[in-house]
Amino acid sequence: MLNIRAVDIKDVDFIYYLRNDPEIAFWGSGKHGDTLLTRKEIEEIIINQRSTDRRRWFIIEVEDGYTEPHSIGMVTFRDFDRVARSVTIGMCLAKEYWGKGYGTQALRKFTDFLFQSYNLHRIQLDTFKGNERAIHTYKKCGFVQEGVLRQAFWTSNGYQDRVIIWAFV
Ligand SMILES: CC(C)(COP(=O)(O)OP(=O)(O)OC[C@H]1O[C@@H](n2cnc3c(N)ncnc32)[C@H](O)[C@@H]1OP(=O)(O)O)[C@@H](O)C(=O)NCCC(=O)NCCS
Repeated sequence: MLNIRAVDIKDVDFIYYLRNDPEIAFWGSGKHGDTLLTRKEIEEIIINQRSTDRRRWFIIEVEDGYTEPHSIGMVTFRDFDRVARSVTIGMCLAKEYWGKGYGTQALRKFTDFLFQSYNLHRIQLDTFKGNERAIHTYKKCGFVQEGVLRQAFWTSNGYQDRVIIWAFV
């Protein structure tokens, strides 16, 4: 079973891996310096996170009923606008879990959670045009491509178009 839970101080090492592994960082963010957080920075973000923040981190974990739940990735939201009732979300999985259906399950669960628990109207995602696996996954979950911002995403391979994808109630 797949669950999404609030991030905890015990997750520092796992998040450090997700944010600093070169391949995950490339697909998740284009691998620019701002997203390569230190353990100390991750710890501070977790300690200071409040339920009312405009930005929050969550851990995706799976359990089989026999062993302890184990973490497979994270989902986040940022730019929570309480008036427009909108957020931008992001997600990444540890590499060994890519392509096994976990991302689809997690995105559906996270989207349901956000629409219901935060009474949202709009959820936005964005990535660069070359991230076809992510774009395919988002569309499979009911997200619709809204537009393309030309050359608005910088990656370690150079500028790419930023694809804006959204879902609404
Ligand atoms: C993006 C990500 C969250 C998706 O999760 P996942 O568990 O790998 O995805 P799933 O297995 O649920 O689904 C992947 C889908 O993409 C398809 N796919 C894989 N590679 C593809 C490609 N190059 N082009 C198009 N579709 C592709 C798969 O066939 C599958 O679709 P299907 O079920 O219709 O066959 C995960 O791969 C990841 O963490 N990637 C690195 C970080 C990242 O890119 N984050 C998103 C940027 S914000």
